Amino acid sequence: MMQIENCRVNHLKTPVGYRIDSPVFSWKVRDAKGKKQKCARVRISHEKDMKDCIFDTGYKNDLSSLAFSPEITLKPRTGYYWNVEVISDLEEHAVSETQYFETGKREEAWIGKWISCDSENERHPIFYKEISVPGEVKKARLYICGLGLYEARINGCKVGDEMFVPGCNAYDAWVQYQTWDITENLAKGSGNTIEVLLGNGWYKGRFGCDTTRVKGYYGQEWKLLAEIHILYEDGTEEILGTDETWKAKRSNLTFSNIYDGEHRDDTLVAEEENCFITEAPKGTLTERMSPAVRIHEKLKPVELIVTDAGEQVFDMGQNFAGIFKLRVKEEKGKKIHIQFGEVLQNGNFYRDNLRSAKAEYIYISNGEEVTLVPHFTFYGYRYVKIEGVSNLKIEDFTGLAVYSELGSTGSLTTGNELVNQLISNTRWGLKSNFVDVPTDCPQRDERLGWTGDAQVFSPTACYLEDSYAFYAKYLYDMAQEQKALDGKVPQVIPSFQYKDTSSVWGDAACIIPWNLYHFYGDIKILKDQFESMRSWVDYITSVDEGSNHTAWGNVFHYGDWLALDNRFGGIEEAEGGTDADYIAYVYYMVSAEIVAEAADILGYQCKAVKYGDLATEIRSHIKNTYFSKNGHCCVPTQTGLILALKYHLTSDEQWTQERLRKLFNKNLDKLETGFVGTPLLCPTLSENGMTDLAYHLLLNEGYPGWLYAVKLGATTIWERWNSVLEDGSISGTGMNSLNHYSYGSIVEWLFAYSAGIRQEKCNVGFTCTKISPELNWELKTVDAIYDSPAGEYRCKWEILDANHVKINVTIPFNCEAELTLPCTNDNPKRILEAGEYEFVYETSKSLKRIYSCNDTVGDLFSNQAVKETLQQIIPQASIVPTIYYERTLRSILMEYQGTLGIPPADVLEVMLGQLDATLAQI
Ligand code: BGC
Repeated sequence: MMQIENCRVNHLKTPVGYRIDSPVFSWKVRDAKGKKQKCARVRISHEKDMKDCIFDTGYKNDLSSLAFSPEITLKPRTGYYWNVEVISDLEEHAVSETQYFETGKREEAWIGKWISCDSENERHPIFYKEISVPGEVKKARLYICGLGLYEARINGCKVGDEMFVPGCNAYDAWVQYQTWDITENLAKGSGNTIEVLLGNGWYKGRFGCDTTRVKGYYGQEWKLLAEIHILYEDGTEEILGTDETWKAKRSNLTFSNIYDGEHRDDTLVAEEENCFITEAPKGTLTERMSPAVRIHEKLKPVELIVTDAGEQVFDMGQNFAGIFKLRVKEEKGKKIHIQFGEVLQNGNFYRDNLRSAKAEYIYISNGEEVTLVPHFTFYGYRYVKIEGVSNLKIEDFTGLAVYSELGSTGSLTTGNELVNQLISNTRWGLKSNFVDVPTDCPQRDERLGWTGDAQVFSPTACYLEDSYAFYAKYLYDMAQEQKALDGKVPQVIPSFQYKDTSSVWGDAACIIPWNLYHFYGDIKILKDQFESMRSWVDYITSVDEGSNHTAWGNVFHYGDWLALDNRFGGIEEAEGGTDADYIAYVYYMVSAEIVAEAADILGYQCKAVKYGDLATEIRSHIKNTYFSKNGHCCVPTQTGLILALKYHLTSDEQWTQERLRKLFNKNLDKLETGFVGTPLLCPTLSENGMTDLAYHLLLNEGYPGWLYAVKLGATTIWERWNSVLEDGSISGTGMNSLNHYSYGSIVEWLFAYSAGIRQEKCNVGFTCTKISPELNWELKTVDAIYDSPAGEYRCKWEILDANHVKINVTIPFNCEAELTLPCTNDNPKRILEAGEYEFVYETSKSLKRIYSCNDTVGDLFSNQAVKETLQQIIPQASIVPTIYYERTLRSILMEYQGTLGIPPADVLEVMLGQLDATLAQI
């Protein structure tokens, strides 16, 4: 039966107290027999039974399920019920369950006052107040913000199930408060107590780029603001706010910060003190935007290892970000010390790659049994070293994965277990680095919202998880930071006063909203971010102006960060070989183009022309400076040519494609790209008819490549291609995390090209899709499910034998797809409406890879089995210089015909043909 699910307001499920200036509703229709939405109707009411609607669209045939924005003015502290009704073209009728959202205080003044206590005292305070509740409570809300972080309890029970509130953002610009439904927490009578424990967190604890700093960037003072609003059954209302009548007592937490962990001492006795009214924080108090950060997976250790050094170490079997739960009972005064690391070295516990982050938990026992759970810190870990616990057992420890609430939207499995592990590693990379802010890593003294990392990973994130609301908060934060910097985008958001910028990184301001718009089809992100986007481009212009397009290129840029083609670099080199100024101008152009297109969509015609002209000017500057007269790219690196093709900078695409293939050939078909080239690599190869090479790069199990790490046992994506060397030793400690998601961006290609589920540039929200799977003999099968904003797509291909393939495709309700069947002589194109389809057919060519003398030596040698066989047959093959790699084997054989031991081409041709039969068999 037709059903309506996934109803969201501003891409959030049942948001209470969120910053909703204008609501945007979205929903998905499932299980319909009909193909299209005939009409839909949205109603809004203050009543749960939907009587007395305050808004009703009536039946409309143009209501978009991606983003419908009703013209209503929202009131503060008000609940809104809504539902959506859909009628299909077969007259099926469905009504969604009644949905709810509630506004925060909006512009309403606060009665509560900011309070504080002695902030020199590191012992974390608990602010508390006894409340009497004289009547039956109909509805009660707690509006609250505590800095650095807070945890509220009423009558001993934690309010809500979130961690790290009020969230991490540029606190000097805005501070988020939360709204909690506490109707069930309050009891009629006089004995209610509200307690709020404060921690240091990102606001007031050691955090940020300057790791020598011991205090927080944003504030030094414990601060709390709260208001309890109680509506009684008899209609009376009561508001209780924080003020000087609240008390404070010291908790048993003696220390906490994000990098170094937490200390708890249960031998301490509570100390009482008075609170006082204090100044509000600098940033504007704003309703929350951060989606909830919660505990998700609960992981049990796979092993308790006693290392050679005699340490007791739990192996969790998975690297992740989170906290833990440990049950202990030790004698009074005993100290328990817990440390976290990502990798063992020589079989022993190791954490030098965490740099200055202590990443620990210290507990002093009071003799009682207790379950330890940190409050205000998190760790990026797979291994846990525990000291001071007498009878340590696996069942006493649980790892708790902590990340922002998203919602899985994509899954993809292939016939290759290593690739499946790579996808799992990417998803864990995402979870580990989506703790309120899209970070670079979750373990060392960094964990910052690096804009470049967020930018390159955003399409993958949108395939894998419902990421809109998470990025919307990050982008809002970015816009706030830019306001104080004339549009400049600090390279980490929130900036923690680190105000430098770089191309590709700062371009996140344009690229992420653009990606979100394309994935979700909600124009609101462009409206909300337009100023931020425009001001970033204007900032670049202000740097570059009057310099004949040299100035922007001359400032420091990270370039193709961590690429392997810096010929002068050592093992820990970070700067790639592609000219950073070329990359900088390409991204300047890309951002200007995005602003022009966004302006056009938003109806800002003058701006569309202005930024369009700017983009054209930068494009011709790039062509004049970095391309020869006949359009050949003069930045001869993998990334250089990838950019030329991706952004159509070359007037001779065929030459560039050939050149790129040669470049790879010379490098034995191995990649050497960094942060810029890697995310674009496989999509660009596929767009240029080189999917074979893309697959080859993906499936390469040696170094450097994605599966190299997988083969070495990685459970997350590493920061560097060589983070860990073949012998298991870490390649360096300067900048080497084992949980950086950037190179996980290959997953975008798996969805978009391997499974083939993608959109043309002119489409948004996946209502009109292209399904164009690309087969690969070695992968055997790909099964991708993408629950897009418009509904669930599936594309599964399965190679049945060398000449037969089965393809299953599902198109969601109200959507349409152009399917291109691969390897067929028949018309490969089909226009598909909603429904499930299966195609089984004989392919137009063998799906097996047949090697031949007409292949280049580079191609042949890039397959280890072929290389070894050739070297056995032709002894000279082991000493072939790399300049020969671009040539076909046939041409070399012709040149050296008759030389001792070299068999003629036709003999080799037969051998190579047979050889293939022994390779990758299904
Ligand atoms: C981070 C990166 C980041 C880079 C800037 C590193 O320390 O971990 O992922 O993008 O700095 O180049």
